[in-house]
Amino acid sequence: MLNSLTGRVVNGSPYTLITTPIYYTNNIPHIGHAYTNIIASCTNIWHKLLEEKTFLLTGTDEHGQKIEVAARELGEDINQFIQKYSDNFRDLANKLEIDHDDFIRTTETRHKKVVTELWNILVANDHIYLGEYSGFYSIRDEAFYQESELIDGKAPTGAEVKWTVEESYFFKLSAFQDQLLAFYEQNQNFIIPHARRNEVINFVKAGLHDLCISRTSFSHGIPVPGNEKHVIYVWIDALANYISALDFPNGENYKNFWKNLESNKIHIIGKDILRFHAIYWPAILMAANLPLPSNLIVHGWWMKDGQKISKSIGNVIDPLALIDEFGVDYVKYFFLAETGIASDGDYNREKFIQKINADLVNNFGNLLSRVTNLTMNSLSGKAEFNQNNEFILNQNNFIEEYIKLMNDFKYNLAANEIFKFSSEVNQLIDQIAPWKLNDQKKINDILYISLEALRILTIALQPFIPNKCQEIFKKLHLDNDFYPLSALQERHTNYNNIEKLNIFKRLL
Ligand code: MSP
Repeated sequence: MLNSLTGRVVNGSPYTLITTPIYYTNNIPHIGHAYTNIIASCTNIWHKLLEEKTFLLTGTDEHGQKIEVAARELGEDINQFIQKYSDNFRDLANKLEIDHDDFIRTTETRHKKVVTELWNILVANDHIYLGEYSGFYSIRDEAFYQESELIDGKAPTGAEVKWTVEESYFFKLSAFQDQLLAFYEQNQNFIIPHARRNEVINFVKAGLHDLCISRTSFSHGIPVPGNEKHVIYVWIDALANYISALDFPNGENYKNFWKNLESNKIHIIGKDILRFHAIYWPAILMAANLPLPSNLIVHGWWMKDGQKISKSIGNVIDPLALIDEFGVDYVKYFFLAETGIASDGDYNREKFIQKINADLVNNFGNLLSRVTNLTMNSLSGKAEFNQNNEFILNQNNFIEEYIKLMNDFKYNLAANEIFKFSSEVNQLIDQIAPWKLNDQKKINDILYISLEALRILTIALQPFIPNKCQEIFKKLHLDNDFYPLSALQERHTNYNNIEKLNIFKRLL
């Protein structure tokens, strides 16, 4: 059933790697960071629903000039400084319950070893040379810019830039222009959404310059093997986390989740770090003869009350405070369902409350409580499967649409489908009005298929509100607390001991 439903070719049991960016340890986490984690968690659960083996990776990006400067400005010891901020991000991942399989820190020995090894491979393959960099550098973006890219003397991101002349190692990025364009052409879904793909293609077509990949003006980084006055450019260091955490080159996880050409390798990133992931990272992997990622899922930015979120405006939202107030499932649900990955989102307290109340409390929560309440009152908590059920649950269209949208990373639209189906079931119950019926079989039949609808909806909701779904499965006395998509098939089993469920607290 799974294959025919999903239309996917499932080769035995495929492996899926899902990564978040690794977060800079010079700032406290805000909802933008939480958002990347939430999408990763949803994607991870979705692939578990498809019965794949998954690996969710997150962590912290701890080297570079930006971090060195931030610690120095506060007069703090750099190691204590990065430890403190790294712990904040670990705390965020734990409180968001993203269920990550590893948390990598770029200051760990296991990571430094792999970065050095990758460098040596690039040297051995003759893709690195020593030269001199003269151009602009932005410490905030940790990025090099050409003069032609500057807008009013600043980086296109608005960051300050500094004219920099340094001896530097270069990666022969320009040699990969054609190979990159061919790769984008052959892998139409490498960059999602497609508008971002076009942006990258246009940039590459305009001509690539070799990339400066070492710095000499500070020391907080991984030394270049054999020339230790250079440290490796922080983005090369950071991107390598995706394979260092898997224990490149011989670890089991590396073999299953990266080297394995059948595995899905999904990087979730924000639109601001597209160039690094869509151009530099694939080119480095090509240069090292390593497999490339399968998808870059590029999300938009969150604003608050229509304004950019920034420390200077003072409108930073603490995701931990949101979780404390509303609970982790409501937070996950809002950010996944409020807007699509392709667009920018806007957080606003009233909107949050409205969305949760409309979808989870009034729609699905209401269906859940009325069906369980009716089963408890009219059938003493028992609804039986019966071959000649006179009602038919029309779930196939919903399931098909839901699967398609989830596979396309259109999580907000998949959520809409869930609530559309939930509304249809609510309407069917209104129409049949079992509370007005005397015929026990008819009452049983309508409530049985309504309970089946609840079960199906709960399976579909797992990537969005995993804890609530566990609770529902438990309270419906089902055997497991997690169900894959294959469990959408008819169950042919009775429901027993059903009591009225009030799982979704209304927000005020
Ligand atoms: N360290 C790099 C990533 C290296 S990955 C090999 C970095 N770190 S970051 O901490 O600045 O950003 C991490 C993620 O948070 C990025 O995907 C970024 O897009 C996201 N967000 C930061 N602010 C955001 C919003 N206001 N809204 C949505 N996401 C944003 O970049």
